[in-house]
Amino acid sequence: MSEEIPAATRPAPLPTRLSRLRNWLSLSGLVLAVSAFFAFFLLFSVDLFAAHANPYMGILAYVVAPLFLLTGLAMALLGYVLESRRIPKGHPELASSFVLHVNLTRKRDRRLLVGFVGGSLGFLFLTALGSYRTYHITETNSFCGEVCHTSMEPQFKAYQHSAHAKVACVACHVGPGAGNYIRTKVSGMRQLYHTVLGDFNRPIRLHNVNQRPAQETCQSCHWSQKHTGDLQKTYRHFLSDETNTPFTVQMVLKVGGSDPVHGPVEGIHSHMNVSNKIEFIATDESRLSIPWVRVTDANGRKTEYRTADFKDDISKHPIRTMDCMDCHNRPSHKYLTPNAAVDQSLAFRRIDPAIPWAKAKVVKALVQPYATREEANVKIDRFLRAEYPDDARVTAMVAETQAIYKANFFPEMKVDWRIHPDLIGHKDSNGCFRCHDGQHLATDGKSSIKGSDCNACHLIVAQGAGKELEKVNPQGLPFFHIDSENSDPTCNECHTGQTQE
Ligand code: HEC
Ligand code: HEC
Ligand code: HEC
Ligand code: HEC
Ligand code: HEC
Ligand code: HEC
Repeated sequence: MSEEIPAATRPAPLPTRLSRLRNWLSLSGLVLAVSAFFAFFLLFSVDLFAAHANPYMGILAYVVAPLFLLTGLAMALLGYVLESRRIPKGHPELASSFVLHVNLTRKRDRRLLVGFVGGSLGFLFLTALGSYRTYHITETNSFCGEVCHTSMEPQFKAYQHSAHAKVACVACHVGPGAGNYIRTKVSGMRQLYHTVLGDFNRPIRLHNVNQRPAQETCQSCHWSQKHTGDLQKTYRHFLSDETNTPFTVQMVLKVGGSDPVHGPVEGIHSHMNVSNKIEFIATDESRLSIPWVRVTDANGRKTEYRTADFKDDISKHPIRTMDCMDCHNRPSHKYLTPNAAVDQSLAFRRIDPAIPWAKAKVVKALVQPYATREEANVKIDRFLRAEYPDDARVTAMVAETQAIYKANFFPEMKVDWRIHPDLIGHKDSNGCFRCHDGQHLATDGKSSIKGSDCNACHLIVAQGAGKELEKVNPQGLPFFHIDSENSDPTCNECHTGQTQE
């Protein structure tokens, strides 16, 4: 900061160890390290104070930022080592001539200094902005659903057509709390790693993704004490005969509630863990086979139920407490069965029900084994045009069939309704009948789980087509089954989601 010293008389720089950092490599490394540390600090604070922790933040804050920090430090160290090698012992005069002399009385120095400080501040500001933007991007659903394009495509597509299309992925897949926080970070990194390598499982299963308990996710929006009471629902079907005969079931579902303060404890929602607790053992990962169930009622009285062939000691199995997701297992990623999807298209007239055999033919076109979506599109087109060579309506039919395929079948990820059955009912999967099949007996060997007769969960108030649907009976009708000779109640043995040949 003094007057300018002629270069020749400039004193040799002090031979301190730190002076060996005075080289371009070390200096750039240090700048990088400081910025990375700054970015880490920002990401870390955003992550800490954000309402919903986000798995991908973990990758940025705890992997990417530290990686840059380490690279910066490594560069600084390398510069230091190279510089040390260059200066032989006892020859400090050979040390770097790279010495910073700032003379504020000089216009050029003042300008340089202002430029440097301004530039650094600008850089830090951009880092801050960048980190914050990155945070927002990772929070969005398109990041979760689209960045990992192929791996998450089925879930993302189905999600966009669900009641939860406006709910962020992270609201259901990440819960608050320190434990979850760490676990989600680790899981998020593992997912990214597998995505980069492309060696993720096809299909992705529930146990590949860490699923948070319902109390921390669903119940942050839904109130389990709510008394829902009765819900009316209409199920519109078309038979796979020549005339696509319509068959509709109108039902009152006894959803009820489980909190005595807000209404009687009754119906389907009576197992919400409010005034009772239901636990079970599942012997497979998809929890389709449930041989043992235990109820603890409001007074703490326990009743155990088990199937006759389950003799195991229960301590050998993990016991799960039933929650929302044991019934609502597909609240946002529902893959329609081909039957249900075609019924919907016929009901909405996107496929003309006047076309003979439309239901049967479209279902058949959908369920062939295709390796890729492109192959499916080509073959669906070829198959239906061959079936209806002179029918002008076939063009619309082909387009709708391809649309159904696109929304519900993911051959590249090996995902469709067979992989992720919906457990809410009992027609196409054993859903409620996993426990309510009359086969789970209490220790007395006689009584089975309550609520297993046809009118326990719902009343059929009307069924059939046309005029028949006007004969409404609020007391509940016995189910009229098209295939009336068969009264076997295990519906999903015949109803597999696709038309029977
Ligand atoms: C309303 C809550 C909810 C939302 C929102 C949600 N999911 Fe899910 N997700 C679930 C449930 C429940 C499961 C299945 C857990 C089970 O089977 O027990 C699941 C399963 C998954 C699976 C595992 C594979 C499978 O299909 O079972 C992936 C992957 C997944 N979700 C990704 C996403 C992505 C990506 C988004 C955002 C585009 C998202 N989820 C939004 C609730 C949700
Ligand atoms: C961020 C808030 C939020 C979370 C978390 C959430 N939901 Fe929802 N859920 C909603 C909203 C909002 C609706 C109503 C959507 C509508 O009707 O437009 C809804 C609707 C529903 C419905 C009725 C669906 C229908 O077809 O009408 C069910 C069932 C449901 N949620 C179950 C769940 C389950 C199970 C979970 C946990 C896996 C969950 N929700 C998590 C906000 C949430
Ligand atoms: C025993 C199975 C079961 C459990 C457990 C369960 N539900 Fe339901 N829930 C149902 C059925 C069945 C319906 C009727 C709708 C249907 O069939 O699609 C329903 C309906 C609903 C609806 C729609 C109500 C309306 O007014 O439209 C919501 C929301 C809902 N459940 C949320 C939850 C939440 C949140 C939990 C966990 C706290 C939960 N459910 C636990 C079976 C269950
Ligand atoms: C894990 C086993 C299990 C599953 C799966 C299950 N339940 Fe239950 N459910 C029970 C048990 C246990 C009870 C309590 C019965 C008792 O107290 O004896 C019960 C009670 C009920 C009741 C009340 C019966 C009464 O009269 O008090 C209804 C209604 C019901 N369940 C409907 C359903 C529906 C609908 C589904 C499918 C969406 C379903 N349950 C799935 C185990 C299950
Ligand atoms: C443990 C409760 C429970 C029992 C017991 C039960 N159901 Fe259901 N059933 C349901 C639920 C829940 C649904 C609605 C599923 C949905 O919303 O997708 C349903 C749906 C149905 C449907 C309409 C399905 C469709 O897609 O058209 C019919 C028909 C039906 N049940 C008949 C029966 C008959 C017959 C019995 C007796 C053998 C019976 N149910 C016993 C819970 C039950
Ligand atoms: C022995 C086999 C068998 C059993 C068991 C069975 N069904 Fe069916 N069901 C059929 C056949 C076959 C049809 C006619 C399908 C068609 O024409 O597309 C049919 C048609 C239906 C339909 C109207 C059309 C459709 O495809 O949705 C409903 C609703 C239905 N069954 C519900 C049930 C329910 C609920 C149960 C269990 C209580 C059940 N079925 C048990 C064979 C069976």
